[in-house]
Amino acid sequence: MTLTKGLLAAGLLTLVGMNAQATEISFHAQSPAKQTGAIAVAVGANDTLSLSAANLDALTGGAISKAVAISGFDGDLKSMRVMTAPVGTAYDHIILYGTGESGSASDFNLLEIGGHLAQKANGLGVTSLTIEVDTHAEDAARMAMGVDLGNYQFNKYMSDTDRHNSLVNVSFSLDDAANAEDFFAKELSGVADSVMMARDLVSEPANVIYPETFVDHARASLKGLPVKIKVLDVSDMTKLGMGAILGVGKGSVHPPRMMIVTYMGADDKDEAPVAFVGKGITFDTGGIDIKGSNNLWAMKGDMAGAATAIATVRALASRGAKVNAVGIAALAENMPGGRAQHPGDVVTTMSGKTIDVGNTDAEGRLVLADGVFYAQEKFSPRLLVDVATLTGSVRRALGDEYAGLFSRHDALAQQLLAAGEKTGEELWRLPLHPNHLKTMKSDIADIKSTGTGPGASVGAQAIGFFVDEDVNWAHLDIAGKGLISANTPIAVKGATGYAVRLLDQLIRDHYEGQ
Ligand code: BES
Ligand code: ZN
Ligand code: MN
Repeated sequence: MTLTKGLLAAGLLTLVGMNAQATEISFHAQSPAKQTGAIAVAVGANDTLSLSAANLDALTGGAISKAVAISGFDGDLKSMRVMTAPVGTAYDHIILYGTGESGSASDFNLLEIGGHLAQKANGLGVTSLTIEVDTHAEDAARMAMGVDLGNYQFNKYMSDTDRHNSLVNVSFSLDDAANAEDFFAKELSGVADSVMMARDLVSEPANVIYPETFVDHARASLKGLPVKIKVLDVSDMTKLGMGAILGVGKGSVHPPRMMIVTYMGADDKDEAPVAFVGKGITFDTGGIDIKGSNNLWAMKGDMAGAATAIATVRALASRGAKVNAVGIAALAENMPGGRAQHPGDVVTTMSGKTIDVGNTDAEGRLVLADGVFYAQEKFSPRLLVDVATLTGSVRRALGDEYAGLFSRHDALAQQLLAAGEKTGEELWRLPLHPNHLKTMKSDIADIKSTGTGPGASVGAQAIGFFVDEDVNWAHLDIAGKGLISANTPIAVKGATGYAVRLLDQLIRDHYEGQ
């Protein structure tokens, strides 16, 4: 019996435990004396062998140059070749990884190379992988982050361990191992863990994750970090007048929650914080306006925004970012039932403004109406970003390539677009046109939650209705990005943890120590 199976049988793998099958990553000035598994060496543009590739070439009697010539491998950025059972070394495989023109790999490309290597190693059934790096310490550290993310697999419910990723140990070998290890440990590894924490939350099914258990899981994963956690329950939210989130949660046996995580990292503790508010619908059936059964299971991921909001603060805390930050998860389960809210119900939000519920399936904007208003009132943030799997409309418009960005503030929009490009979590700006708000007139309340304008923009306006004009606010519609159906180098099919790296980058570039 395997360890996992044993623990499962003994009931020791509990609800709160994260997936956390972390890759063991280490850095060494020399490649390990014991040659096992696979070794990866770099080849640059026009088959230029890196120093370590040239050394291995000598060791294998010229096998690498020969393989490169025969296979037409030309060292293009992100390309790869595998040589199995090479003579002259005890390694089972040599993996050649292309780095293109020297210096052409972006930070994101380095992540992709690392992730791709991890996935290649898994495809080969390799347990140990040595990666030779001939460039900078930071490059190796970024590749290590890519390895971490690319080797992620949500396998806690897979009893057959043959299906688990084989790759366990990855050792980087480079002259400046000490600096690589330092940079990875201080700046990147906590961010990778936070992305994976968000992935775990999205991957967990809705019978495991509902508002209360989302809080438990997030709390467990924040353990040991310098953050404060506050949780509002139904009675707290009732006192605060949060009728919108309470309305959404009414049909479920699992009551709603608002989770607030604060991290005070700025030298000036009075500095206004940056705030992230996430849509946390732990399952979206649509409510009384019930959805069809087609792909309905994917609505377990309708809390991806909330996972990202909390994970981003976790990332900032993990690397000791010099910024004050707050992450808010607006959590509810959207279910039909005898207690569920009806289409046409009018709810009063914390702001005092009333909403006519045009469609119970437009529930994200309701929980966020109370979420963003709470953030604004309680924290007067210098930056407010809400993240939500809000509309099918944004998926139809932008497909798999982009998440939607909405902002009234051009400078912030530019900062976010740039962070998206840097991190490979790309955004496309869509309009927040006042005319779209005009389509949301209600005959009996201040606003209707739905309108006749374009869906993604109407959703954005519904949230913006609760944010003061002068607040530095942006809305990210990540519907379709939380769960993906094709592998990328740094995320296999499934949960992505989208926008954690993006928001971390935004803070690094514009809000930290500034
Ligand atoms: N959670 C959905 C949006 C969604 C769809 C996310 C597919 C991820 C994948 C959201 O709550 C929703 O149902 N939106 C409706 C709004 C409509 C009723 C105004 C939509 O987009 O159809
Ligand atoms: Zn939803
Ligand atoms: Mn919905």
